[in-house]
Amino acid sequence: MKSQAFEPLFSSEIISQRVHALALQISSDYKKTRPVIIGVLKGAFIFLSDLARSLKVDADIDFVQISSYGSSQVSSGTCSLKKDISIQVADRHVLIVDDIIDTGHTIAYLKQHLLQHNPKSIKTCCLIDKQIARVSNPIIDYSAFTIQEGFVVGYGLDFDEQFRGLPAIYIMTAS
Ligand code: IMP
Ligand code: MG
Repeated sequence: MKSQAFEPLFSSEIISQRVHALALQISSDYKKTRPVIIGVLKGAFIFLSDLARSLKVDADIDFVQISSYGSSQVSSGTCSLKKDISIQVADRHVLIVDDIIDTGHTIAYLKQHLLQHNPKSIKTCCLIDKQIARVSNPIIDYSAFTIQEGFVVGYGLDFDEQFRGLPAIYIMTAS
């Protein structure tokens, strides 16, 4: 039977510092606006809740859910919307917040979908920019961390719905 090994990657202290710094940067860029922040369920829920509490601007918050991964560690490449927005985004500044950008398919799909609602602007923010498998090339405006490769869990990120609640981020390997 396969078992998993976990190698610490980002501690909760480092995550908290980076998320706070990112929130200050976003607050300064969105000063005097009231952006709509759209979190991508489920992975972004912890990142977005910390980010939102460090923002210095008022923001409306909504969520979408997109399926792309199933239970494998490899992106399927096809996305479908499981839950759509419930706030009107026409003429609003939109900031998409996701946990991790891997191939880029999810963000590219979501951006395309939201553009049909005629927002004033759309930017993207992710906790982790994972660069090795990038296929679609969406512009990532904000990222807390960049990694080259590896499958990571914790702080909202799961493997087959497990490990989201870990307070730090780990590289997971099957052995
Ligand atoms: P993309 O469409 O390939 O960019 O995949 C994005 C989605 O795949 C993320 O929102 C995650 O839900 C999932 N994903 C990609 N890499 C990882 C990982 O290392 N750990 C956990 N989930 C991941
Ligand atoms: Mg996700």
